[in-house]
Amino acid sequence: MDAKQLVSELQDLRDSGHLSDALLRYAVRSIERSDPRFDWVGVYLLNSENNELWLHNYVGSPTEHARIPVGTGVCGTAVEQASNMRVDDVSEVENYLACDPDVQSELVVLIRAGDEIFGQLDLDSSEKSAFTDEDETALGMVADKLAEQLAAERR
Ligand code: SME
Repeated sequence: MDAKQLVSELQDLRDSGHLSDALLRYAVRSIERSDPRFDWVGVYLLNSENNELWLHNYVGSPTEHARIPVGTGVCGTAVEQASNMRVDDVSEVENYLACDPDVQSELVVLIRAGDEIFGQLDLDSSEKSAFTDEDETALGMVADKLAEQLAAERR
């Protein structure tokens, strides 16, 4: 994935007046297309009132996990611990929420501005240990750009 290129495209969208909804959809589609390891790519946004993650948009198989309580599954644990999560083998995670039996590994990268968590990018792969440090860094750059727009809309 060419993160610099995607970040620049997202900034172009911002400059031309697009809001977070468009940026989140654009990012998910671009990430999913960028690499055959990425079988499911989605964004969850944190709903602080309900203390839940709500699925904003995704590419891949339909999932029954449209809402995930903070603290549940890989996604909810990432928010609870305020840290990204990389799972090389999902069968070893006790509270893993399966959305597709083919999924073997998962990467969650938080969309955040400092201590404030807006949500996360969630990626699944049908390969074990599919995700690397480079993926996490690249997705972090994209997540930071998305956070800039989300923060701007909160003001
Ligand atoms: N596997 C995630 C749930 C999201 S689905 O994979 C789309 C989890 O354990 O939180």
